[in-house]
Amino acid sequence: MLLQRIFRAVIMGPPGSGKGTVSGRIVKSFGLMHLSSGDLLRANIKAKTELGLLMKSCIDQGQLVPDDVISRLILTEMRNIDQSSWLLDGFPRTVSQAESLDNVYSVDTVINLDVPYQTIKQRLTSRWLHLPSGRVYNIDFNPPKIAGLDDVTGEPLIQRHDDTPETVTRRLKAYENQTQPVLEYYRCRRKPEPYKLSKKRNVLSLLTAFIFSKLKYLHMLYEHNM
Ligand code: AP5
Repeated sequence: MLLQRIFRAVIMGPPGSGKGTVSGRIVKSFGLMHLSSGDLLRANIKAKTELGLLMKSCIDQGQLVPDDVISRLILTEMRNIDQSSWLLDGFPRTVSQAESLDNVYSVDTVINLDVPYQTIKQRLTSRWLHLPSGRVYNIDFNPPKIAGLDDVTGEPLIQRHDDTPETVTRRLKAYENQTQPVLEYYRCRRKPEPYKLSKKRNVLSLLTAFIFSKLKYLHMLYEHNM
């Protein structure tokens, strides 16, 4: 189903909660553009850009990269997709980043994936990634058709440097200290004006209600760890 107006969403959750996996499914169903801060940083590292080389050690150690660097990177990249509906994955991750985003775009909805840390640690040890596309696999949950190879391109899959148990623990700490306050920021933020209903807008509100019911269902699945 394609959306009839520009719809802007953010997906949040601890590292390894399934943001990339769920995003893939949402963008396929609703025709949104997907922008992942982690994929963008890894692409810079792979291309050995100045920024990628500078940020690599931060990422490998499980620390967040500086707010001004990531905000500039993401907001610049968003200019390429701002005529479409989008889903942001991994940004914002601090209150300062959320404020930078708010200065330019208003977000329609925030999806939060709530997954216990023990489950996350298990998932990350069996995660495999196709680096060029960001496609994510899991040996237990979502294995590739041929072990070690991407389903679409047949290229080799890799494991991430920051998926070691020690680094995952650091990433979860960074999430608690720096990213959880962003959820509170969005909870407290004033809700947007409700739509004024006209015949034309009735269709729009039905569409929006449909999307919200799907997203609520996804959230519920994750809350129940399915
Ligand atoms: P990023 O790439 O964004 O990493 P992350 O937030 O730690 O999240 P992950 O990509 O690890 O996991 P995910 O939630 O997408 O889960 P996935 O779908 O893969 O960021 C990496 C680093 O970049 C950060 O640590 C930081 O240094 C830096 N960075 C990025 N953005 C930044 C920002 N805004 N500010 C500052 N620094 C930033 O799923 C995980 C596994 O579980 C997979 O194997 C998957 O197949 C499996 N799985 C998914 N769903 C299920 C399910 N329902 N059941 C069973 N298994 C499942």
